[in-house]
Amino acid sequence: MKQSIPSPTPAGRGRLAKRLRRTFGWFFNLPALLCLALSSAVLISCTTTQRAPLTLAAPPQIPGATFVGNQACAECHEKIHGDFPGSPHGRFYRGDDTHWAPVAGCESCHGAGSKHAATGLAADIVNPRHDPLACLNCHVSTHGEFTMPHHHRVLEGRMTCVDCHEPHGQKTHQPAAGLGLQQRDAVCTQCHSEQAAPHVFEHEALREGCTACHKPHGGMNRGMLVQRDANLCLRCHAQIQTGAAGVFIGKTDHTGFLRGGTCWSAGCHSAVHGSNFSPRLLY
Ligand code: HEC
Ligand code: HEC
Ligand code: HEC
Ligand code: HEC
Ligand code: HEC
Ligand code: HEC
Ligand code: HEC
Repeated sequence: MKQSIPSPTPAGRGRLAKRLRRTFGWFFNLPALLCLALSSAVLISCTTTQRAPLTLAAPPQIPGATFVGNQACAECHEKIHGDFPGSPHGRFYRGDDTHWAPVAGCESCHGAGSKHAATGLAADIVNPRHDPLACLNCHVSTHGEFTMPHHHRVLEGRMTCVDCHEPHGQKTHQPAAGLGLQQRDAVCTQCHSEQAAPHVFEHEALREGCTACHKPHGGMNRGMLVQRDANLCLRCHAQIQTGAAGVFIGKTDHTGFLRGGTCWSAGCHSAVHGSNFSPRLLY
């Protein structure tokens, strides 16, 4: 069906733009998807040699099923369907046409839904909790992070994306797929309670969150640190050059110390997450 678009008189231009955006809103986000897809092509082809070749950002395959669109899920999953537009993934598509459904709707993660919508059987739909590739088809650079030398073992099946990310956007007070700032650390400390335990001598750095120092998925450095040496700490602790090669951090002359290694090794500030004994976080 063709749509007639009124010619843009100056007065009508704003309205037209709005209308275009409403009709083709998807299109404005398309570049984001295309970038993801393009980088997929490159990365997937060089990292997953042993796996069967993947089609670009193809949704999970369900033999014999066809795409039905989000509206078809609403009948039985009313709450999820209602919450979904509030999630970052739900921004793109909320209709019932089957054109965008495979790349932006429920079925982009769950696979084509016609069979399941008819039977209601779990066997006829994909649950990405059991298959991170359903997410990584699109998030290729994230895939790369999980293959770094130090990483959370998601690809090995010990953890899932859902341990940290909320896929449908129920928790609207947590923007970014359940990654609002407050929530971020709660997400980590459900497993790492020791690091977040209250300490007599807190390290204020923790108020900025775990990701001030750690990469959440994986990285090149031990402990998934964002930087591997003293530079990690010097990002926040001003270093004052005095004279020829003198270095002061706080009120203490660190000139000799920094040559000795990282700030937290060799008996220095080893209590980086806080200490019950040492105000200088020595132990
Ligand atoms: C006719 C009702 C009905 C419709 C329509 C329906 N579902 Fe379901 N769905 C169910 C039922 C019932 C279950 C619980 C199955 C079970 O636990 O065995 C379920 C479970 C699921 C699960 C969890 C499967 C698992 O492994 O635990 C997912 C994912 C799902 N549905 C997605 C969808 C999507 C996406 C759509 C739209 C394309 C959809 N459903 C449409 C009835 C429906
Ligand atoms: C970004 C990928 C993604 C999209 C898009 C998505 N889901 Fe899910 N869905 C998941 C993941 C991951 C789980 C597993 C959640 C868990 O186990 O906690 C899941 C679980 C489910 C379940 C099982 C019940 C539950 O809460 O665990 C149903 C039903 C479901 N989804 C329906 C839908 C419907 C309907 C839509 C569209 C309105 C949708 N999903 C869109 C990723 C997605
Ligand atoms: C250990 C918890 C954890 C797990 C497991 C996890 N994530 Fe994340 N993810 C995070 C945190 C925390 C951020 C926010 C990072 C930031 O803002 O610095 C994030 C950010 C992201 C982003 C936004 C872009 C970016 O990298 O900042 C994407 C996309 C993402 N994760 C996808 C995934 C996928 C897909 C999986 C599963 C294969 C996954 N994540 C598993 C914690 C996790
Ligand atoms: C069909 C492609 C596709 C699939 C499948 C997909 N995503 Fe995304 N995801 C995107 C796009 C596109 C964005 C960027 C949204 C934006 O910028 O508004 C995004 C954004 C995100 C973000 C960042 C949210 C933010 O606000 O920064 C996280 C976290 C994320 N996805 C996690 C996941 C997880 C976990 C799964 C699997 C359960 C998944 N994605 C599956 C396409 C996908
Ligand atoms: C579901 C549980 C779980 C959650 C949630 C979780 N982790 Fe972990 N984390 C683990 C496990 C298990 C290990 C042990 C190492 C492994 O699996 O190889 C680990 C290891 C680590 C390590 C040490 C890695 C190394 O190379 O020594 C760091 C640092 C870490 N996690 C930080 C975080 C941060 C930051 C978050 C939040 C964004 C987080 N974790 C969320 C389970 C979790
Ligand atoms: C000021 C920077 C900083 C912050 C903030 C931080 N960490 Fe760490 N973390 C480190 C350093 C440094 C190590 C030691 C890494 C190594 O060399 O093994 C470490 C190690 C870890 C380890 C490995 C086990 C251990 O204790 O050595 C885990 C798990 C961990 N951190 C979790 C967390 C969590 C969870 C948070 C947020 C509550 C957090 N970290 C915040 C700097 C930080
Ligand atoms: C995100 C910023 C940030 C990072 C990164 C950071 N710190 Fe801190 N640190 C602070 C703040 C804020 C304080 C409290 C104010 C102050 O004393 O400078 C503090 C206090 C300290 C103190 C107590 C100083 C005193 O005399 O009271 C020590 C010791 C310390 N940090 C060591 C480290 C080490 C070691 C690292 C690297 C593993 C590190 N910090 C990384 C922000 C940070």
